Amino acid sequence: MFALGVALAAPVFAAQSDSSQGGGIGSETHAVPARQSWTFAGPFGKFDPEQLQRGFKVYHDVCSNCHSLKLVAFRDLADPEGPDFSEGQVKALAATYKIEDGPNDAGQMFERPGRPSDHFPWVFANPEAAKAALGAVPPDMSLLAKARTYPRPFPLFLFDAFTQYQETGPDYIVAILNGYTHPGDDHWNLYFPGHTIAMPRPLKDGAVQYTDGAPQTLTQYSRDVAAFLYWAAEPKLDERKQMGMRVIAFLIVFAGLLYFTKRRIWAGVAGH
Ligand code: HEC
Repeated sequence: MFALGVALAAPVFAAQSDSSQGGGIGSETHAVPARQSWTFAGPFGKFDPEQLQRGFKVYHDVCSNCHSLKLVAFRDLADPEGPDFSEGQVKALAATYKIEDGPNDAGQMFERPGRPSDHFPWVFANPEAAKAALGAVPPDMSLLAKARTYPRPFPLFLFDAFTQYQETGPDYIVAILNGYTHPGDDHWNLYFPGHTIAMPRPLKDGAVQYTDGAPQTLTQYSRDVAAFLYWAAEPKLDERKQMGMRVIAFLIVFAGLLYFTKRRIWAGVAGH
């Protein structure tokens, strides 16, 4: 029990000593992100549309100034299992974007207002332009919440296997957004490998206006945008979880049927 306690406490101590060390720039040590509680975790998890709508606003107002969201189309935002925006809202939003189209009859590319079927455009013309402006290419966000996971230390990963904990990606995004723990250094991040991150601190309290009364704090913003990005990376999550439950229910019924069939078949045999 003592050993287990030590193992459980280890990541906490690691995180603390890491932050108290100060400097550490260039070192490969970085803190382990804290586990958040998500509405979409676990076998019955579901997205909260209000949270996804707020998270989209954070992406729209802040993150989209640098990060692309290439795999997501405007109309995806109307997904009833996702952000559940109305068709009208999606149309109006799409129309605020300029989309490059063409070539026209004269062989020229032209710009037109966005349509719901268009995908989110990127503010930069190409990755080179982004790198020249920011010092590094901001990764596309469509799959970021699934791609950036981190190993959870022993024995946590054993528990994770039983509890089906899979939300390390959004945990990491929350951690990065809250990881600017050196006031005065907007590129020092506790959770980024090596601690020096090209992304300057993107969010602080009050940066985004919410209309639903949710707290306008860094903590709330980072959780909402991480949830939104998780939906973007895995829009069919609800469906997948429901299918999983149906398969399990089927297997239980099927096991019962097999048992009674076996009893019938063997009923006449001596000793059974
Ligand atoms: C000013 C431009 C800018 C803005 C605004 C911005 N980012 Fe970034 N972001 C970057 C760049 C550049 C990188 C690459 C950092 C690196 O490689 O050092 C990055 C990296 C990241 C990473 C780390 C990915 C990894 O490689 O592990 C996360 C997570 C992230 N951004 C999330 C966000 C979120 C969420 C928002 C909106 C709240 C946001 N960013 C807003 C420029 C930006």
